[in-house]
Amino acid sequence: MPDKPACECCVNTFTTKEAEADLKRYREHGVEGPTRSLVDAIKAEGVEGATLLDVGGGIGVIQLELLGAGLARSESIDATEPYVEVARAEAERRGYADRTAHRFGTLADVAAEIDAADIVTLDKVICCDPNAVDLLDVVAAKAQRAVGLVYPRVTWWNRLASRILAAWSRLRRDSLRWHLHTDAQVDGALRAAGFERRDVGRTFIWQVALFVRVAGSRR
Ligand SMILES: C[S@@+](CC[C@H](N)C(=O)[O-])C[C@H]1O[C@@H](n2cnc3c(N)ncnc32)[C@H](O)[C@@H]1O
Repeated sequence: MPDKPACECCVNTFTTKEAEADLKRYREHGVEGPTRSLVDAIKAEGVEGATLLDVGGGIGVIQLELLGAGLARSESIDATEPYVEVARAEAERRGYADRTAHRFGTLADVAAEIDAADIVTLDKVICCDPNAVDLLDVVAAKAQRAVGLVYPRVTWWNRLASRILAAWSRLRRDSLRWHLHTDAQVDGALRAAGFERRDVGRTFIWQVALFVRVAGSRR
């Protein structure tokens, strides 16, 4: 386990307090918004006996929802330690300790140590990374059946929000940024690896897409 993940933009951004607040909201309201759309789309593909790799999994909502729907095993990787701890404790509390693994680090840090999975998800994660294409190349190499993404739409209001956040972060001397990636960048990385895109939904801020491996394209 690395002492400090390489993903500087996310380190110190999310605290134990925020992770616990996320968990409280999930316990009270269940899965919501674009995450729900992604979970429903994955369930519709069938998850019985499948494996999941959840990158930037936060408190583990996608994992818990899909384990409840018949997933065999899940592994999550997150560059924010409080999220990893809260996710692990909640999975244990729900009786999933023997079917889950939670790692602290970035995907790049641990890629060599983790197995491929049927489904790989990144829910509001590629916006942490200025170089989503490299990240998605690693994701594509680990995904056997499908890749699920929630990521920001490229709109004038999201561009403005991204610039305001960057200016605010520079003033505070922290490295938090919110990166927008075009569909061409995202699709290019995954289509080149043999996935086809299915648009699942969108909100004012986010879009949800499921990339399904085309038959015969397995690496
Ligand atoms: C905005 S949070 C989203 C958390 C969760 N998926 C959700 O929707 O509630 C983004 C998370 O992704 C993690 N993250 C970002 N880039 C990552 C990477 N390359 N590898 C692992 N985790 C990453 C961050 O540490 C952070 O916890």
